[in-house]
Amino acid sequence: MRSFWGGTALRGLLCGPRVPGPSPVRQSSGGPSWTPERTLVAVKPDGVQRRLVGDVIRRFERRGFRLVGMKMLQAPESILAEHYHDLRRKPFYPALISYMSSGPLVAMVWEGHNVVRTSRAMIGDTDSSEAAPGTIRGDFSIHISRNIIHASDSVEGAQREIGLWFRSSELVDWTDRGSQGNASAA
Ligand code: PPS
Repeated sequence: MRSFWGGTALRGLLCGPRVPGPSPVRQSSGGPSWTPERTLVAVKPDGVQRRLVGDVIRRFERRGFRLVGMKMLQAPESILAEHYHDLRRKPFYPALISYMSSGPLVAMVWEGHNVVRTSRAMIGDTDSSEAAPGTIRGDFSIHISRNIIHASDSVEGAQREIGLWFRSSELVDWTDRGSQGNASAA
């Protein structure tokens, strides 16, 4: 699968103005520290059709997470079948695969402290009618079959899903120079 974002475009995307907010710093002593954790987030075809990609990115950036991979693609059925392998016997499985392949989606990898658990809280309950206002599904979706967004549900699941959707060469390690500068000056 080819990366949608060329190097220049991705660099431009990542070098925008820094949003102030909690940004745990990887440092050895004297301040906040975190073990790097990554998760897969995907804006599903209905989210793309409804122009919600920007809003999703904004929420994750403002929370302080770091975007380390992103691409838009029409998901091949082979990837969807592997991604939803555990659900293959569910009655809704055919409809789920059909919906997920009905248009382009935007797959992202986000990094940060407890990003797996926090992103699940940010997207809200799988069943949109149960999703709390303020969550992505609670703000934009009313039905489980069109619930806008996916986020990995465990650290192990995230590792598996990131490996399924991204080549390692499509992920970018980068550090927050502003935070590092502040940390070393403190
Ligand atoms: S289950 O039944 O408890 O295993 O499913 P759940 O963990 O709640 O959801 C797993 C994924 O299936 C999607 N899902 C559905 N899609 C379409 N129609 C129906 N009825 C439906 N029910 C569940 C749900 O959105 C989850 O997909 P992701 O991509 O993780 O959001």
